[in-house]
Amino acid sequence: MRSNGCGELRSQHINSNVQLCGWVDRCRDHGGVIFIDLRDFSGTVQITIDPDQGKELFAIAESLRNETVLQIEGKVRSRPIESINKKIQSGEIEVLATAIVVLNPVTKNLPFNVSVHDEEPIKEELRLKYRYLDLRRDRMNKNLRLRHKTTKTAREFLENEGFIEVETPVLTRSTPEGARDYVLPSRVCGGEWFALPQSPQLFKQLLMVGGIDRYFQFARCFRDEDLRADRQPEFTQLDLEMSFMSQEEILELNERLIASIWKKMKGINLKLPFPRLTWHEAMEKYGTDRPDMRYGMELITVNELIKDIGFKVFSNAIAEGGSVKCITIKNGNKFISNVRIKPGGDIFSEAQQAGAGGLAFIRVRENNEIDTIGAIKENLTKEVKNELLKKTQASAGDLILFGAGKTSIVNKTLDRVRQFIARDLNLIPNEKGNKKWNFAWIIDFPMFEFNSDENRLEALHHPFCAPNQKDISNDESEWTNQLPKAKAQAYDLVLNGLELGGGSIRIHNSKLQQAVLKTIGIKSDNAKEQFGFLLDALEMGSPPHGGIAFGLDRIIMLLSDEESIRDTIAFPKTQQARCLMTDAPAGVSENQLKELNVISTWIDSED
Ligand code: AMO
Repeated sequence: MRSNGCGELRSQHINSNVQLCGWVDRCRDHGGVIFIDLRDFSGTVQITIDPDQGKELFAIAESLRNETVLQIEGKVRSRPIESINKKIQSGEIEVLATAIVVLNPVTKNLPFNVSVHDEEPIKEELRLKYRYLDLRRDRMNKNLRLRHKTTKTAREFLENEGFIEVETPVLTRSTPEGARDYVLPSRVCGGEWFALPQSPQLFKQLLMVGGIDRYFQFARCFRDEDLRADRQPEFTQLDLEMSFMSQEEILELNERLIASIWKKMKGINLKLPFPRLTWHEAMEKYGTDRPDMRYGMELITVNELIKDIGFKVFSNAIAEGGSVKCITIKNGNKFISNVRIKPGGDIFSEAQQAGAGGLAFIRVRENNEIDTIGAIKENLTKEVKNELLKKTQASAGDLILFGAGKTSIVNKTLDRVRQFIARDLNLIPNEKGNKKWNFAWIIDFPMFEFNSDENRLEALHHPFCAPNQKDISNDESEWTNQLPKAKAQAYDLVLNGLELGGGSIRIHNSKLQQAVLKTIGIKSDNAKEQFGFLLDALEMGSPPHGGIAFGLDRIIMLLSDEESIRDTIAFPKTQQARCLMTDAPAGVSENQLKELNVISTWIDSED
């Protein structure tokens, strides 16, 4: 039906006869001559309809609505110099139409203008409801093509490294990754349920037991959790598993994988190896295990220094086993008023949302004089003050903000405040366009964290991560005591404040696996029922193995400079986990429920 893509035509095509197919981007009637911008996946081209080409042709052109689907035949010719359009790649030429076929007219009102000339932001709800129109626009077209090229690059890299692509089931049983499961009732096995996979974790481990050696998959994962800009209920992982490889070897291979993607997609040579931070260092310095290291303002612990200055908020926090930490904002006195730090202020509100009661502060003035709230100033000796200024590297004009209390809350607060201020004061270098790419591996995670709601330990990643060998002995009877304090052979790849991927060396010893499950409160009978297949497999010759999964949507979001993974997915869900186009989820008939042996107890609160 066509000889070329609309956006492909250039001066070298002048005098060629071409057939083009596409959508009417817009029509302009210039008194006697009609111009149609015709658009397809490759771009737009100007079609000129001259009345000399016949009345019938002209009449069709006169009646065209935007987004009508056309096939056009014509001859490429150069544009007069004064009408060359440098903004589009085909701007030096135009096509003089000799025939127009309307392949499909538009018979409904368009909810928004698709045209490349219309840069009005469109409400996201409308974009999602009429996603097929949104996909016609340049932004989504580019993002999906970038996504395709990225997966192609990754696939090529992995194939060259000896990986094979294997699909794992979507109808399966629950894999604990920390979110709620999406579940599906089985019709044939009445009363029983499948869970959609939160990740292919156990299957990929079993592929290693099955001797596959190196596996990868672009795996669809399903998690029923609170959604954010970087979280979808249904998302894609680039999922990998490898046998007979140490953590070091896995990190090295994955750095090369990421570097090959950045090279191909961005033309950037990433510096390898990526820096590494232990989990402990990351929490100390940034208050989070996914630090944005494009700017400073690191957290500084000042427990020892200020514990005796007589300021109750500080001394109580330390006496109760918590911490006092601070961040120094260079020239903060100029940009951040007291109003913003005190109740009602925007920075105060950030701290409060992270769980803090408030933020103590010190303003450094000329000659190391300081301004602060009562009790700190009254009790701060000259020595402590000087030591504090040295430790925080604060000088005249700087503002020091303090968090005091339970260490986890202090970390959360200062992490949030640090990020908020960095954005507010434009401290993030080249946030748009030519970004800084500060990759880092976070390693040496604790195996477990305490879940105070349920009063039990839970796995920080998932319960299949192997502990550091030096943290547990060969004597099994000691594992119960040793495991809660052990570090995991786990690693996350973070980039500019986002977790891009995470993985670990796995447990390949059935007894150790059972001990870990026991540590998180899964009793032996339960473990056998839920994970019997894994425990059995580990006793039948499991190779040492490990792997990682990257969030593909997040990688594309960063590569395409988007702020939400919704803009990297063809048909995403809203924050309410709903598809606005198909209106899923939706009700099912009584009959279907009956067949599935399911009773709905849902009561519509609006009835
Ligand atoms: P994890 O749970 O860390 O690890 O997931 C791996 C990566 O997947 C991405 N991700 C998400 N992306 C979009 N929406 C979500 N809801 C979402 N949840 C996670 C993140 C994350 O780093 N089985 C392990 C991997 C392993 O150990 O090999 C796992 O799933 O980028």
